[in-house]
Amino acid sequence: CRVWTNVGDLGQDHSGQTVLVRGRVHTVRGKGSLGFLVVREAGHTVQCVAAVKENVVSKGMIKYVGKLNKESIVDVEGVVVVPPKPVEGTSQPVELHVSKIYCISKAAVQLPINLEDAARSELDLQKGEQEGIQYVRVGQDTRLNNRVIDLRTPANQAIFRIQCQVSALFRQALLDENFVELHTPKLIAGASEGGSSVFKLDYKGQPACLAQSPQLHKQMAICADFGRVFEIGPVFRAEDSFTHRHLCEFTGLDFEMEIKEHYFEVLDVLEKVFLTIFDGLNTKCAKQLEAINEQYPFEPLKYLPQTLRLTFAEGVAILKEAGIEVDPMADFNTETEKTLGKLVKERYKTDFYVLHRYPSGIRPFYTMPCWDDKSYSNSFDVFIRGEEIISGAQRIHDPELLTKRATECGIDVKSLTTYIDSFRYGAPPHGGAGVGLERVVMLFCALNNIRKTSLFPRDPQRLAP
Ligand code: 4AD
Repeated sequence: CRVWTNVGDLGQDHSGQTVLVRGRVHTVRGKGSLGFLVVREAGHTVQCVAAVKENVVSKGMIKYVGKLNKESIVDVEGVVVVPPKPVEGTSQPVELHVSKIYCISKAAVQLPINLEDAARSELDLQKGEQEGIQYVRVGQDTRLNNRVIDLRTPANQAIFRIQCQVSALFRQALLDENFVELHTPKLIAGASEGGSSVFKLDYKGQPACLAQSPQLHKQMAICADFGRVFEIGPVFRAEDSFTHRHLCEFTGLDFEMEIKEHYFEVLDVLEKVFLTIFDGLNTKCAKQLEAINEQYPFEPLKYLPQTLRLTFAEGVAILKEAGIEVDPMADFNTETEKTLGKLVKERYKTDFYVLHRYPSGIRPFYTMPCWDDKSYSNSFDVFIRGEEIISGAQRIHDPELLTKRATECGIDVKSLTTYIDSFRYGAPPHGGAGVGLERVVMLFCALNNIRKTSLFPRDPQRLAP
C-alpha cells in the first residue's frame, strides 16, 4: 500500500516500500530514457529517478519530468531504493524509483532569485569568482523584496526554526518558574519608553500610539497580583536610524516579577532562562546550527555555567585599562560596547555577560535608583558578543517617586495617570527585563544583520512585503 512520507523521514528502513512524497522541484534533468528530479521538502532533499518501463513510465512522462519548472510542487510516488553510494547534493540516504508523478502547483519559469546562488557562502562565491564561475551574488534588498523565495534556503529555514525554539524555551523556562503568560494591549494612550521613537495614530479621534514595549502594563499586572508574568509579543519602535540591529517592529520577550530584597533576583531568573535557551539550542538544533554555519560560518557562543556580572563602573575601568576613556556617567555607544565585549571575552572567556548598576541619568524614568547612591540605578543590560540583547531593572513602585522621576525626565505625567494610579493601592517591589528575540538569534549565530532573523523585516525604509 502507498504511504505518505515526509522527505526528511525517508531512510533505509523504507527500502522496498512504495511511498508518496510531496515537495518542490529542487533540480531536474532529463537524459534519454531517464529523468532525474531532486524533490525538496522542509530543507530535506531526495533524488527521484524516472526510468522508462513498460506499463509504468512512458517516454512522454520522462519528457514531462524534464519540463517541470524548478520550485513547482509535485507529488511523487515511487519505490524506496538504497543506492550503492549516497546521492551527492541530497540529504537523504535513499532514492525513489518513480512510478507516478503529479504537478500540484506550477512555479513560474523565471524565478527572481536563483536559490542555489542564494544559499552559497561568501567563501563559495569567492572561490567561484577565482575559478571564473558565474555565480550571482544575491543582495539583501533582492532577498527581502522576494522574501518568500529567499526564505526557502537551508540557512533561512534553520534561522526561523531556531527562532521558534528560543521562544519555546523562554516560555517553558518561565512556566517552570511559575510565571503566567499574559497579553498586554498594543494600542495605548502614551509612549512607554520615551517620546521620540513612537508610532502615533488616531484612535477614534483620540491620540494614541503603538506600544514600544509591554513595560507599563506588565507592571500593572504585578499590581494586580499576578506575581510573576511574561509576554511574547510585537514591539513597535519608530526608529529613524538605519542600522544592522534596529527594526521598527520586533518580537519582545518580556517578563516582570515581584522581588523580595534585591534586583539580583531578576538576574537569577534571567540567567537560568538563558542557560536553558543556549543549552536547548545546542542540543535540539544541532542540524539547524550546522545549516547556518554552512552559509554563514560562525564560532559557537561561549558562555559560563555561572553568568559573569560586572558593574557599569567595572566596564568603564576595563575600557580605561585598555586606554579607552569614556564618560563614566554616559551610555556606551555601539563601538564601545563591542570593544568592551572583546576585552571581556579575552579576560573572562565568555561571549555572554551582564553589566549592571547603570547611571540613573541614562535609564528610563521608571527605573529604581540605588539606595546607597541615587546617581546609579538598580538596572542592567545583557550582552552577547558585545551587543545588547536584554535591558532590565528594578522598577519604582512608589507613585510619588514615579511622578517625580517622570516629571524630571520631561514626560507629560497626564499621559501616565492610569499607570501611576495603579501603584496607589499597594504595589510590591518588582523588576523585570525585555529581550529582543531577533537580536538573540542574530547574535547567538553571529549573523551580521537583524534583517536576517526577522521573517518580514520592518525598518525605516521597508514596509513590504
Ligand atoms: O532596551 P529596551 O528599549 O528596553 C525596554 O523595552 C524595557 N521596557 C525593558 C525592560 O523590561 N526594562 O528594549 C529591550 C530589548 C533590547 O535589549 C533589544 O534586544 C531589543 O529589545 N530592542 C530592539 N530590537 C530590535 N530593534 C529595535 N529597534 C530594538 N529596540 C530594542
